[in-house]
Amino acid sequence: FAIQDFQNDLINWYRNEKRDLPWRKNQDPYKIWVSEVMLQQTRVDTVIPYFNEFTTKFPTIQALANADEEEVLKAWEGLGYYSRVRNLHSAVKEVNECYGGIVPNDPNEISKLKGVGPYTKGAILSIAYNIPEPAVDGNVMRVMSRILSIWDDIAKVKTRNLFEEIIREIISQEYPSDFNQALMELGAIICTPTSPSCLLCPVREHCAAFHEGVQTELPVKSKK
Ligand code: ADE
Repeated sequence: FAIQDFQNDLINWYRNEKRDLPWRKNQDPYKIWVSEVMLQQTRVDTVIPYFNEFTTKFPTIQALANADEEEVLKAWEGLGYYSRVRNLHSAVKEVNECYGGIVPNDPNEISKLKGVGPYTKGAILSIAYNIPEPAVDGNVMRVMSRILSIWDDIAKVKTRNLFEEIIREIISQEYPSDFNQALMELGAIICTPTSPSCLLCPVREHCAAFHEGVQTELPVKSKK
């Protein structure tokens, strides 16, 4: 597997084709954090207006830390999964009080924050701080299972760990932010679940599933 060529083809495509999404306008770790928490269980189109409103109402760590829970919950109304925003609010207060309002850029420190699991950690560190950490969600597992023809069950924690190890090996050390976002973008607009657009794919040359004609059989996902 030609890692360097894969990185170049993926990142060049992303730079040319990426969608103009509001959280891509800057690298503010707080705003990246808000966007990733919203995007965990909610579609991009739904998230956009909520993200804009939320970050206008609470533009900084300090603003959110000092807001009343009631007001914060109100800004989340309609997004659902309210434990997400309760955890976010509590973690933001922690950052405000214990880290001087600066989102930690250390994997161990950031992992201690409420609601920050391996995916959110990797997304913030890579996108906001350009640190080469994997950010593996369902989209990334779908893309990588096809590219490398991996038939392990993505519903299993062990498989997620396997994908994190793989991403650690192949992530661009120079451009981890673009690399991770490119994988997410590829999963969102080309390497879709049921009918992937392989003929438009910038990395189909690197894709084992495409060569074997098995792209629609991957990933393997048990009901559990
Ligand atoms: N899904 C999860 N994170 C995302 C991001 N940063 N951009 C687009 N889709 C996403």
